[in-house]
Amino acid sequence: MAAQISPSILSADFARLAEEAKAVEGADWLHVDVMDNHFVPNLTLGVPVVESLRKATDTPLDCHLMIEDPDRWAPAYVDAGAGSVTFHVEAAAAPVRLAREIRAKGARASMALKPATPIEPYEDLLPELDMLLVMTVEPGFGGQAFLDIMLPKIRRTRELIGKHGLEMWLQVDGGVSADTIERCAEAGADVFVAGSAVYGKEDPAAAVQGLRRQAEE
Ligand code: DX5
Ligand code: ZN
Repeated sequence: MAAQISPSILSADFARLAEEAKAVEGADWLHVDVMDNHFVPNLTLGVPVVESLRKATDTPLDCHLMIEDPDRWAPAYVDAGAGSVTFHVEAAAAPVRLAREIRAKGARASMALKPATPIEPYEDLLPELDMLLVMTVEPGFGGQAFLDIMLPKIRRTRELIGKHGLEMWLQVDGGVSADTIERCAEAGADVFVAGSAVYGKEDPAAAVQGLRRQAEE
């Protein structure tokens, strides 16, 4: 599959979200980091902002829920217009039921793993998912250094996807930049979230194209 880039608006100017969303048109997704100050020690935005973003851009929304009780909240993000909803397995009470609910409501269902969470216990859940997110930093903040120690987990996850003959995508999030994206692609990732490496640049749209080119090399 061709590489997909999902710029994270966490690194954008929150007072100008509509413009910032438009600044990366041409990206495959717009990554929206939802944080509740419980699952992670930071607070960002919720359903009403996602509803407004949906109207502000044609780019599909990739909502990454770093929140407690995603079983309760994830469906509301599908209703708000997300094309993909990612919940953390560490927070979900019933991940299979939740993935089925997200799919039934018409969005792509995705599950995220924090750096210390292994993929192996969840091998049998993979067919229920459209995407698996391997975090390459501890979730909570943009601009952190990429964790190289996650590369083996990316590789093992790609192998498991192949073993089960699945079409699902493998996303990486955290510290993905011109310096690290090739390592992620080589390990088997195909959807790349980038915050500071896109919005930290003078021309965010050009940064998206540059990252995609590098990932596809
Ligand atoms: C971190 C968020 C990321 C963040 C990535 O918890 O999930 O999406 O915005 O930012 P960078 O690319 O700057 O590491
Ligand atoms: Zn994220």
